Order: sequence, then structure tokens, then C-alpha cells
Amino acid sequence: MGDLDVMPQAKAQGVRIACPARGPQVGVKEGLVARSLEARQFAYCPYSSFRVGAALLTPDGSVFTGCNVENSCHNLGVCAERNAISKAVSEGYRSFKAIAIASDLQDQFISPCGGCRQFMREFGTDWEVYMSKPDGSYLEMRVRDLLPLSFGPEDLKMKKETPKEF
Ligand code: THU
Repeated sequence: MGDLDVMPQAKAQGVRIACPARGPQVGVKEGLVARSLEARQFAYCPYSSFRVGAALLTPDGSVFTGCNVENSCHNLGVCAERNAISKAVSEGYRSFKAIAIASDLQDQFISPCGGCRQFMREFGTDWEVYMSKPDGSYLEMRVRDLLPLSFGPEDLKMKKETPKEF
């Protein structure tokens, strides 16, 4: 039984309870995909009608969900992945094990946009992304493979030749 099958309060008390909604046999990855599919229901997407959900797993087994939130000033819309990551970071997490993404695309695995790939990469390249379909099937890749030759926080610390006036 994975951490996702444990209720938060029960976990705090050291008690392990099978979550009846998902059942004890469901694996951690499948559980995370299920949470992203659930998170889709809250998508605020009146302009695109394109619902996206995300579920982010932390090393201690916590899960943060997110959905896309659009805006009448279109460029202010925020993707589901970025919302989930921002929720987790704002509660003290900076390291992640995996993120699952869900949409309503029937025949295609939802693929994170370039901005979200960079947003994930900020918190490491060695964690997993599960890109799902509504039937719960998913494609699994690592952040580093979704964003090869990436730029990240480490690069800002590399040796530079900056002119004195800067
Ligand atoms: N969207 C996401 O939330 N995540 C992605 O990875 C792809 C796109 C959202 C943004 C916008 O609200 C809608 O999907 C259509 O682009």
C-alpha cells in the first residue's frame, strides 16, 4: 500500500487506512493520476473550455492538486501544473517525486506546455511526470527528458564574464 492510500489525519497518528474510494490495490502512480483526473473538475476555463488537472507528490507522501485558472485578461491564465507546484512551494515543499497531469483529450496523453516544463525544472530534473488520458492510462517521463539541455538555478551560479558596470 502506497502513501497515497493513507488519510492525512490517520497518517499523523501513525495509522494506515485503505482509502475506500481508490481501494488498497491501487498503486501510487495510478493513485496520483486518479487525483489529477479528479482535480480537473475544478478547472476554471471559460475561454478555452480545455480542462486540466494536476496532482503533485512530495517526498513525504503529501499530494497537492491544481487546475488551470483562466482570466478575461487572457495572458494572466495559469496552468494546472503551475498551480499545484505553487501551492506546494507556498507550504514549504521544494522537492518533488512526481506530478500527474490530466485533461479531457480522449486519444492523446496530455503534454505539459513549455512554461510548465521550465517551472518543474526549477525544482530539479530527476523527478517523474505522468501524462494521462481520461481512462487513467498514462505516459511516464522524467523532467530532464521533457526539457533537455535546460537552464536552471545552478546555471546562475556558474563562472561568468560579466562587465564591471553590471
Ligand atoms: N493548460 C494547462 O493547464 N496545462 C498544460 O500543460 C497545457 C495547457 C491550460 C492552459 C489553458 O487554460 C488551457 O489549458 C488551454 O491552453
